[in-house]
Amino acid sequence: MNICVFASGGGSNFRAILESGRNGFLYSRIRLLITNNSECGAVEIAKEYGVDVFHISRKVYPGLNDAEYGRVFVDKLNEYKIDLIVLAGYMKKIEPAVIKSFTNRIINIHPALLPSFGGKGMYGINVHKAVIDARVRVSGLTIHMVNEEYDSGRILFQKSVEVNETDNEYTLQKKILALEHKYYSYVIKKIEEGEIGI
Ligand code: GAR
Repeated sequence: MNICVFASGGGSNFRAILESGRNGFLYSRIRLLITNNSECGAVEIAKEYGVDVFHISRKVYPGLNDAEYGRVFVDKLNEYKIDLIVLAGYMKKIEPAVIKSFTNRIINIHPALLPSFGGKGMYGINVHKAVIDARVRVSGLTIHMVNEEYDSGRILFQKSVEVNETDNEYTLQKKILALEHKYYSYVIKKIEEGEIGI
């Protein structure tokens, strides 16, 4: 498969996936990074691994209507013959045109056990803070298909972790991120092998 990763932040999941490609765990080629933030860590990582970067945001493409803006994404994804889109800390909503053209070919990782602690505004540290504030004893990660609504596509994989009395949002984030790095590549491999159907 040809993979495109979408990322906006530090890019540690992106790095983990690239490493899985480099060490032969994944058969797929990570061909492109799409980002809305040209200064994010993921862009630096792409340079380090020689992956092409496409920077796109409304600011970079002013004056386009929604359909035209969505078309820019789809054209770029088609140019790179992308089979699977992997969201890894991408903080923008996916354009409807992309969802339409890549139905069942977009996956996301979320740092909690969906359907709890998902939806608009629930990303990154906010998720872990909400989990700590709710005093739940279990959190984890979810890898799911992406559709038009935030965090509501079919769940492909979940892994739970215990939330200890002494945990705060930062310790919880660290624990879950370490698992994300392991299991995102694992799920992509299962998709490659047809064991997880998308
Ligand atoms: C990850 O924890 C990922 O699960 C989360 O953003 C972080 C990105 O970290 N995604 C969401 O919250 C999506 N709703 P990274 O840039 O170091 O990979």
